[in-house]
Amino acid sequence: MQTEALLHAPEAATQPTLVVDRLKAYYTTKAFGIDRDIRAVDDISLTVAKGEIYGVAGESSSGKTSLIKTIVGAIRPPLHVVDGTVRFNFSGQSYDIYDMKPDKLQAIRWRHLSYIMQGSMNVLNPVRRIKHSFYDFAFAHMGLDRATFWDKVRDHLRRLDLDPGVLDSYPHQLSGGMRQRTTIALATVCTPEFIVADEPTTALDVIVQRDVLAMLRDIQRDLGSSFLFVTHDMSVHATVSDRVGIVYAGRLVEEADTPTLFRGARHPYTQHLVASLPKIGDTTRRASLPGRPPSLADPPSGCRFHPRCPLAMDICSREVPTMTNLTPRHRVACFAVTGATP
Ligand SMILES: Nc1ncnc2c1ncn2[C@@H]1O[C@H](COP(=O)(O)OP(=O)(O)OP(=O)(O)O)[C@@H](O)[C@H]1O
Ligand code: SF4
Ligand SMILES: [Mg+2]
Repeated sequence: MQTEALLHAPEAATQPTLVVDRLKAYYTTKAFGIDRDIRAVDDISLTVAKGEIYGVAGESSSGKTSLIKTIVGAIRPPLHVVDGTVRFNFSGQSYDIYDMKPDKLQAIRWRHLSYIMQGSMNVLNPVRRIKHSFYDFAFAHMGLDRATFWDKVRDHLRRLDLDPGVLDSYPHQLSGGMRQRTTIALATVCTPEFIVADEPTTALDVIVQRDVLAMLRDIQRDLGSSFLFVTHDMSVHATVSDRVGIVYAGRLVEEADTPTLFRGARHPYTQHLVASLPKIGDTTRRASLPGRPPSLADPPSGCRFHPRCPLAMDICSREVPTMTNLTPRHRVACFAVTGATP
């Protein structure tokens, strides 16, 4: 077994599009004059290959959005990067997100990298027609004359099965599903090589959710983009993601190809997430996990899952388990799986 390595088989052949290495990002807040760190992203390493859909899962407040913001460089106080690197490879060129001038990072965001934020339906200006949002966000970055720009926007909308007539609507005239589809069209009109989507379907009902997921998959297939896809909903990962990373209390605890994760999860927390999924025809009650997710301001020592873990041993409260390769594409951080050697 190889410990904490960024060794995944496909990456050996091609450069990964994203390499996140030992990333730490904390929110530092002041309470009664004393600094307090909320360790939302704590030593996370992962890679995303070209054309891959990498899913990030974990319960609420586990740090998924903080991880995404840190990866795309959308970092505002009190969030700050404590350690680690984030590197993208676009069109054969490498970009270190934390070693770039803000204007260069901004240009990369539009040309190569698209970020669909959690609650992103709200990026559409409520008092202006949708065409103004397209113009404000995308025109300057596409280097086209106006007529060609609008042709391209309309083509993109049609390709995504959206009537170009939406451009003349106000956001409130559209249903939630249409608003989200329009937001995704806006975020992808510059044909990015890398798309980051944070809970893009969470606010939608199941039927509309299915539509929006199909649209995201079509875009990914058409553009051949890599995708970092965040949702707490494991059933969505089962249908969308090629590979899934499970985050618990600011740390990655398991990562595997989706079929492996759903059929052969090894970390007790992942096993619980998978077992909690409803199964057709099964009416037995699912056992819930004891306890509550920990505070990231004062997380448990050692393995952060130990107060809730049915397999916890002595070492678990003392030492931090590191991500260890069980196979080249399956990593887990758990002493019960890898042996109790820190
Ligand atoms: N601006 C902020 N200031 C201080 N703490 C914050 C801030 N934003 C988030 N946090 C804290 O960081 C931790 C991780 O939050 P984050 O939003 O990244 O979780 P999440 O996994 O995306 O949750 P959800 O599933 O609810 O979207 C939480 O403890 C949260 O309270
Ligand atoms: S390291 Fe220990 S506490 Fe953590 S998941 Fe494994 S057995 Fe449970
Ligand atoms: Mg979130």
